[in-house]
Amino acid sequence: MVVSVSPVLAPNWRPDSWQQKPATQQPQYPDAEALQEALAQLATLPPLVTSWEVNGLKQQIARAQRGEFFVLQGGDCAESFGDCRPQVIANRLKVLLQMSLVLVHGMRKRVLRIGRFAGQYAKPRSADTETKNGVTLPSYRGDLVNAPAFTAEARIPDPQRLLEGHMRSAMTINFVRGLIDGGFADLHHPEYWDLNWVQHSPLAAEYQQRVDALGDSVRFMETLAGRPISDFSRVDFYTSHEALLLWYEQAQTRQVPRSEGWYNLSTHFPWIGMRTAEIGGAHVEYCRGIRNPMGVKVSPSMSADWVLELCRVLNPDNEPGRLTLIHRMGADKIGDHLPRLIEAVRAAGHTVLWMCDPMHGNTISTPNGLKTRPFDKIMSELEQSFAIHAACGSHLGGVHLELTGEDVTECTGGARNLSHHDLERAYKSQVDPRLNYEQALELAMKIARVAS
Ligand code: PEP
Ligand code: CO
Repeated sequence: MVVSVSPVLAPNWRPDSWQQKPATQQPQYPDAEALQEALAQLATLPPLVTSWEVNGLKQQIARAQRGEFFVLQGGDCAESFGDCRPQVIANRLKVLLQMSLVLVHGMRKRVLRIGRFAGQYAKPRSADTETKNGVTLPSYRGDLVNAPAFTAEARIPDPQRLLEGHMRSAMTINFVRGLIDGGFADLHHPEYWDLNWVQHSPLAAEYQQRVDALGDSVRFMETLAGRPISDFSRVDFYTSHEALLLWYEQAQTRQVPRSEGWYNLSTHFPWIGMRTAEIGGAHVEYCRGIRNPMGVKVSPSMSADWVLELCRVLNPDNEPGRLTLIHRMGADKIGDHLPRLIEAVRAAGHTVLWMCDPMHGNTISTPNGLKTRPFDKIMSELEQSFAIHAACGSHLGGVHLELTGEDVTECTGGARNLSHHDLERAYKSQVDPRLNYEQALELAMKIARVAS
């Protein structure tokens, strides 16, 4: 008898089938019962996003694969519970809106915005433990798991944090939706997104020119149409986070009426990180069964066979919009590694969106031990990405960034040429260094020039 498997139902998959596979980067909860209680509660709570939105994003990513959209994915390396505050959320939204305005204007292309927020609370770590002054404690794994303070108590994985993370993600997404539905993203009012720097930045004049030019175009189109164009008064915003803590992801994996298959309804766009992308591992197993569009990070150490196997396992039906490959190579390595991967994916006929994460391959330590990223290296990786894709007959469809709307000093360089010494002034990240608002906007302006 032939058993036909619906293309939306992955064979031999269940929301918990990942538990049969090796799962790296998972915390060891000391109280198994407390974990199960928290998960049971999490599984009863309303979802953060809906299957309609998830399907809508997949269609938009399919359009980005055809070159109709450029994807801007950005936000904190790790959100913290303490930063679930209106000002921080609004500022992050402002910088993403400003960047997308610059990109739309420079690239003459629509921009699809995916925030790295409303759930980016779990972090992969290079070591399970951290040692300071002879004391060894479990590593901090993000606010969804434990707390960053270097005390034994803070570092104990606490299942209540799963519920707290869900609650803060819900508050974040609720505020973002409210701002956008209320008109915050209205192209007629880019002044809503002004951050204080706009008056005194070296970039202010160029930004203002682009805003004015776009404003003129909007008014021109509306004059021609003889009415306001409602598309200009709202934008779609989607959420994403790394699908890392599989207990959390599983508890929010749902079936919905009138739609086949399973959805992860904690976010629109989960991605698999570099450290958890092994074939046969728990993260790939979990992700193959959900219907969301998803990303997977691609590092210079991945062979072409590895990447092709990821494409086969995660997108066996070659469904448009389903899979985004986010390469994160480093400015010094991308030239040696990206072309062979683009060729292999194309030769095998896989439909993917290629995005560049120019952050994670360019992290270095300063002489006084702070993690930083030089702006020039970030920009260089991006420029090389555009050129390599064009030379290979492919196209770069988006960029994945760690950034904040705050005035931090975590990455060096940029228009104000921040040095290693400046980093001490406002280094706030618990994990990776982010572009500050000015560096983020400068990057958008440079992308707009490179890609126009
Ligand atoms: C991240 O995106 O924060 C991250 C850890 O990236 P990667 O998996 O590419 O190292
Ligand atoms: Co990071």
